[in-house]
Amino acid sequence: MKLLIINGPNLNMLGLREPDIYGKESYSALCSFCTDVCNGEGIECKLFQSNHEGAIVDEIQAAYAVFDGIVINPAAYTHTSVAILDALKSVAIPTAEVHLSDVNSREEFRRHSYVSMVAKKTICGKGFEGYREAILFLKDYLNP
Ligand code: DQA
Repeated sequence: MKLLIINGPNLNMLGLREPDIYGKESYSALCSFCTDVCNGEGIECKLFQSNHEGAIVDEIQAAYAVFDGIVINPAAYTHTSVAILDALKSVAIPTAEVHLSDVNSREEFRRHSYVSMVAKKTICGKGFEGYREAILFLKDYLNP
């Protein structure tokens, strides 16, 4: 099984960025965490981070017929990007959405997610553990 793990804008700033909300661990620590979870489960994974909406769309399109599942934290694009929603619909790859913070208990504008319209599961407010939950969810979903 092959999973693509996508992180959107400003997640490369983890550790520095609003640590009270997003924690003190870095993006490279998040990558190690996800890689370790996938290795432990016998899952092949690719990690991709971009601050650019079009680059994320390109990566999703390139995943067609290559990856079995997608874990995505679209970050701020969660709340704005019809293009990312449409890309996920286009490739029809089972997707799990993750947010480090609990977006439902923050500002009103964070409560709406375009990606939730296509995601098989959305996990919020569990920090890095949310990525583990998303990976394990997709493993079960793809191999029932
Ligand atoms: C986020 C929540 C988003 O609202 C925010 O724009 C992010 C990160 C999260 O992981 O909690 O950049 O997706």
